[in-house]
Amino acid sequence: MALYGNGIKEPSSSKEITRAYFDSLLLEMRLMDAKVPVTDFELYGRKFKTPIMTAALSHIGTFNPDMPSGMVQYAQAAQMAGAVHWIGMGSDEEFEAVMATGADTIRIVKPYAEEEKIFSMIKCAEKNGALAVGMDIDHMFGMEGDRDICMGETMEVKSSEDLKRYIETTSLPFIIKGVLSVQDAIKCAQIGAKGIVVSHHGGRLSYAVPPLYVLPEIVKAVGDKMPVFVDCGICSGMDAYKALALGATAVSVGTHLIPYIRQGGQQAVAERIEEMTAQLKGAMAYTGVASVKEFDSTVLHRI
Ligand SMILES: Cc1cc2nc3c(=O)[nH]c(=O)nc-3n(C[C@H](O)[C@H](O)[C@H](O)COP(=O)(O)O)c2cc1C
Repeated sequence: MALYGNGIKEPSSSKEITRAYFDSLLLEMRLMDAKVPVTDFELYGRKFKTPIMTAALSHIGTFNPDMPSGMVQYAQAAQMAGAVHWIGMGSDEEFEAVMATGADTIRIVKPYAEEEKIFSMIKCAEKNGALAVGMDIDHMFGMEGDRDICMGETMEVKSSEDLKRYIETTSLPFIIKGVLSVQDAIKCAQIGAKGIVVSHHGGRLSYAVPPLYVLPEIVKAVGDKMPVFVDCGICSGMDAYKALALGATAVSVGTHLIPYIRQGGQQAVAERIEEMTAQLKGAMAYTGVASVKEFDSTVLHRI
């Protein structure tokens, strides 16, 4: 660990910076002619009750010894709440168990060095009726700039050409996760991605710009071409509101839901997504937003 002296801490946590940015955004009220809002949401031709989705998590089976697999409960929770479900790294067997719950699921495949593995995981997603498939490009590198090794598996640095081949191999919408610049967003659109996740993956880069800070510029650049999702640090309906007001198509919640799955299983997670959706609906009512298509960034003020 570096010695900074004078009480100065190590390079700062992107999670804290992201949290502070959420909290610096405040809402004005727009009650004149406001209506009771609806949070219904449509994605890739399927209908959902909320634009608040689960995040692409992995390895959550170990958190509660009573659970055969936390991943299955997490999927059931999303389905109970009428939310889109995302899943990250894991075997085809685990993915199939998740799909057997009936949850509408987006599968994020890691940037594995082994190309065959990527193609066969994409095929497995197709065969099992996934809503979409994608890749988290923010796991190509480890924290020290070499190829990442994640849970013992070696990753590879993927070029636009590589990603284009994955996009072209599948009939499913392909989403690129880990976009945190207009430059990358434009490249994703150019190679035919059908969605991006604006994210720093919970702080893989120190001093990462908060996703909500770059979101408006990204939406301006590519928002008319594909859905723009956001994650990182969302833990209330108010956080979700702010992301949606700044142009996100929908938001994902990961870390915040883990204690709920640990303590109360799928029921608790489903209830938490419903509570967050109710809070979102409350904020929509007070700001004159009648549906998820009507968000307006001018409601927000930064202090
Ligand atoms: C336990 C855990 C496992 C994760 N596994 C994956 C994964 O396999 N693939 C992926 O794309 N993201 C993975 N993520 C990252 C999340 O999808 C998300 O980008 C990140 O946690 C930020 O959102 P959050 O602050 O709501 O957790 C994981 C996060 C956690 C906490």
